[in-house]
Formats: sequence, structure tokens, C-alpha cells
Amino acid sequence: MLTLEQAVLKLQNGEVVIIPTETVYGLAASIFNDNAINKIFSLKKRPFYNPLIAHIGNIKDLQKIAKNIPKKAWKVISIFFPGSLTIVLEKQNYISNLITAGKNTIAVRMPNHPITLELINKVGHPIVAPSANLFGYLSPTSSRNAKKAIPELKFSILDGGECNVGIESTIIGLTKDHRFTLLRYGAIPVEEIEYILNEKLIIHNKLNNKDIFPGMLGKHYSPKSNLILCEDLHKTILINSRKKIGILSFKEKINSPLVHTQVILSKDGNFIEAAKNFFSALYLLDSLQLDIILSTKFPNFGLGNSLNDRLLRASSST
Ligand code: TXA
Ligand code: MG
Repeated sequence: MLTLEQAVLKLQNGEVVIIPTETVYGLAASIFNDNAINKIFSLKKRPFYNPLIAHIGNIKDLQKIAKNIPKKAWKVISIFFPGSLTIVLEKQNYISNLITAGKNTIAVRMPNHPITLELINKVGHPIVAPSANLFGYLSPTSSRNAKKAIPELKFSILDGGECNVGIESTIIGLTKDHRFTLLRYGAIPVEEIEYILNEKLIIHNKLNNKDIFPGMLGKHYSPKSNLILCEDLHKTILINSRKKIGILSFKEKINSPLVHTQVILSKDGNFIEAAKNFFSALYLLDSLQLDIILSTKFPNFGLGNSLNDRLLRASSST
């Protein structure tokens, strides 16, 4: 494990470091070092068409990386920064095309974690950080799982404890005519953003969007074990009775001798607690050599939608 000072030096020297944030652990590099950014893509086995999120340590950093920021965006920034909301803005010309996958926009957020903020401010400029997992696999929410996910960096981890939020930031963008669009469900519920902005978000999905937004890709966030999202859990358990079954449930306890292991995300049915436990529960289940992991959908409002988005993609076959 690194001290904060060691992590700062590594980032300034063009190395990649695993860092904590309030959402999930990140794989960080200096925003101005293409060499280090290239290393992120190779460590993650991430395709270059998938752009990275810039992380700032203070609001002043924003104009170093984004320009022509519309008034409406400033409102979002003043309310949600620091926090688990990412906004896509027009990029400054000198921001590397590697970060933005050749787009003229850059995704930015200001993480709400004291260690991350201190780190970025000591580095002296923003960093880029995708989640610290192999492309398509589960995001880590503890240094232990980050080490499992990217073992090559086991000596380059800055530990910030367990992530408080547990799922990735919500991503929004602005259309040319200045309407907000949702680009990824995440830690801040859509309803909360709509309430605060007093405006409905345009919700992109595979069905109504021809432009590919990688945050809206199919299979993602997946465990190695086969995850099945079922309508009728009890029936699915019976059908698979010869298999070694794991269950990921929101609040319900299943009493069945056919189930090998069960993880309940929140006994009280609390979305915030469920989100916090979500990825660590999947890491745990995925370490047990189960034949299948069964889960059911969350109620479809608030963070339930963000969790369903991850479950759907974790269980998707394409
Ligand atoms: O909570 C989070 O956002 C975490 C922590 C580490 O901050 N980061 C994270 O990064 O989830 P990553 O790389 O795993 O996901 C970034 C998503 C990608 O799906 C990418 O397509 C989208 O952000 N994205 C980045 N830049 C974009 C842009 N200019 N336009 C549209 N989408 C963008
Ligand atoms: Mg990710």
C-alpha cells in the first residue's frame, strides 16, 4: 500500500496508481501524460473507443480541461460537485484524444472523498480514472478487491477504505439545444437530478440511440460465474437444483436447502445500503466457484434503476 505522498509522486512521474473514490476504486493517471494513460488502457484491456472520466480536486481545475461551459452546466456543477455525478462538457483543445476517444467532449467529476481530493490537489492537476477492473468485469469497492482485479498493481494502491457509495457515478450530458441527457445510470438517482434541476432528463438507451455511448453498452459489470436475472426465483432454484447455486437478493431471505450461499444486500430494503454492498457481494459470490448466481430485479425507481442497469448488463449475454 502507498502513502498519499508516494501516490502523488507516482502520478507526477507518469505511473498508474489504484485510488479510492466514494463510488468505486479507480485506475488513475495524470491527465497530461499520454504514456500513463496508454498504460491504463492496456492494464484494463479496455478498447480505445471507450473514453475516460477526468477527476478534478477543485472547481478551478474545471476550466483547465473544459470550455464554453453552459450556464445550465454551472448550475449542476454548483449543486453536485463534489459528488457522484459526472457531466460531459466541451473539452479544451489540448486534452488528449486518448482520454476522449477522439470526441470533442470530456466527462468530468469531482469525487466526494477527502483522500482523493487531497491526492488530486497535491498532484497539482486533474487525473483520469476509469474503474479499477478489467474491461467488462466487476468494479471494486475495496482495496482488497481492486488488488484482485488488477494484481499487476498490488504495490501501487492507495487505500481509502471501503467505498461509501458503492456504484459508479451517474453520467449526464447536454444536447446542442441544452437539454440534459442521461448517459449512465449511477449513484445519484435520476429522480433526484430531475427534482433539483426541475427538468426531465432525456434517457438514452440502446433502443433510441444510434450513437454508441459505451456507458450504455450491453454486457458489462459481469462476474465470471453465470449470473441469471430471474422472474421467479423459487422456480429457478428448483429447475437448477443439481447446481451449486448462489443468490444475490435485495432484502428477501430464501430458506432453501438447495441454495449454497446467499447474500442479502439490505435486510431493511434500503437502496443506499444495497448499492454500497452490491459489488463486494458479487466479488464474494464470484470467488465461490458457483455454477450460477441467481438474482431478481430491484423495484424500478431511484437507485433501484441503477442497480437493475448493472444486474441486467451483468447477466446479459451480449
Ligand atoms: O464513479 C465513477 O464514475 C468511476 C470512479 C473511478 O470515478 N469511474 C468510472 O469510469 O466508472 P469508467 O471508465 O469505468 O466509466 C466511464 C464511462 C464510460 O462508460 C465512458 O463511456 C463514459 O464514462 N464517458 C467518458 N467520457 C465520455 C464522453 N466524452 N461522452 C460520453 N460518455 C463518456
Ligand atoms: Mg467501469
